[in-house]
Amino acid sequence: MLNRNESNEVTIASVATHSSKRNENMAAKNTLDLVGISAAEEARAVTESDSAAIARAKAALNTLDVAEGLAELEGASARLAVDEKRMINCRADLNQLVPFKYDWAWQKYLDGCANHWMPQEVNMTADITLWKSAEGLTEDERRIVLRNLGFFATADSLVANNLVLAVYRLITNPECRQYILRQAFEEAIHTHAYQYCIESLGMDEGEIFNMYHEIPSVAKKAAWGLKYTRSISDPTFETGTVDTDKELLRNLIAYYCVLEGIFFYCGFTQILSMGRRNKLTGVAEQFQYILRDESMHLNFGIDVINQIKIENPHLWDSEMKEEATQMILQGTQLEIEYARDTMPRGVLGMNAAMMEDYLKFIANRRLSQIGLKDEYPSTANPFPWMSEIMDLKKEKNFFETRVTEYQTGGALSWD
Ligand SMILES: [Fe+2]
Ligand SMILES: [Fe+2]
Repeated sequence: MLNRNESNEVTIASVATHSSKRNENMAAKNTLDLVGISAAEEARAVTESDSAAIARAKAALNTLDVAEGLAELEGASARLAVDEKRMINCRADLNQLVPFKYDWAWQKYLDGCANHWMPQEVNMTADITLWKSAEGLTEDERRIVLRNLGFFATADSLVANNLVLAVYRLITNPECRQYILRQAFEEAIHTHAYQYCIESLGMDEGEIFNMYHEIPSVAKKAAWGLKYTRSISDPTFETGTVDTDKELLRNLIAYYCVLEGIFFYCGFTQILSMGRRNKLTGVAEQFQYILRDESMHLNFGIDVINQIKIENPHLWDSEMKEEATQMILQGTQLEIEYARDTMPRGVLGMNAAMMEDYLKFIANRRLSQIGLKDEYPSTANPFPWMSEIMDLKKEKNFFETRVTEYQTGGALSWD
């Protein structure tokens, strides 16, 4: 066994060896860096075989000022500390994804990718037969399908446009932006799914895609959402004042809490109820996957709104709380009107009064999720099966049609 002096000597010798190894590695890396830089510069030299166009392209790059590009990215020259990250009005570099501040946003991005699906995977054969058969569906059932495809076929475009043209640039956090990009693609898949249903069933596309202009109960919901996009999609709009920060908050409440959190729920319930009765199971399966995506969009939006409130408590004053409550109540009212218009009579074991209770139950949830008090006391959920569907994993498909998983990566072939 070594005595204390011997042990110290061994430690000092091992530190010295370790440090000299590190110096050697650094020197080797520096040499490689220099070789790399000069090799890259060499590639820029105009050679005899270069055409005049290639020579001009190379020469143009000689005037490229790297510092100029970085100057636009505030704080880009420094390595990012997690405390500098903020949901809005962040001055730090937005291109440095890590270190994460909001792990939940990254997790939702991963979950969204793991839940990937495409509309063409769903078998629509039985739906086509049923839709084309004269006795397949009642008039009331057909009305529900047409109205909902009419509303959703354009609603998801409104959500996607709001994300890409308005919200994305104003949310100044890279892990949230990563999720927003995923969400934007999912909205494209949803619009694709509705188009796929409309095409499969041979519906009049002009009629369906124009319902948001022509059918009042659909048009009102679309117009209500568009009003909130308009205010912040102006390219000159910037956050950074109390008024403009509140404007962005209003937009997030309008889209995440109301559009995706209330306006989708009457239609989802009606179509999924149809699937539970073994009617239009392909359309219902598409809606089931969409609902699962949407519940994640909604939860992401709620987290973003609450994080903005935590970081900017001055925005969440009594005036803003009252406004947010009013927005959710207006949205609920419009959805109740939509329920009545789509279900003038009882259908599929439900009616407009039951849907009204469900929407009030949902509205209470949305209010409490952003820290506001319930506005519809003692409202019970008449459709508890909806929550079960939202929580279902894809491998336990509600309609048990087939199993598809997208945890791929390793399944890709590169040759
Ligand atoms: Fe969607
Ligand atoms: Fe969505």
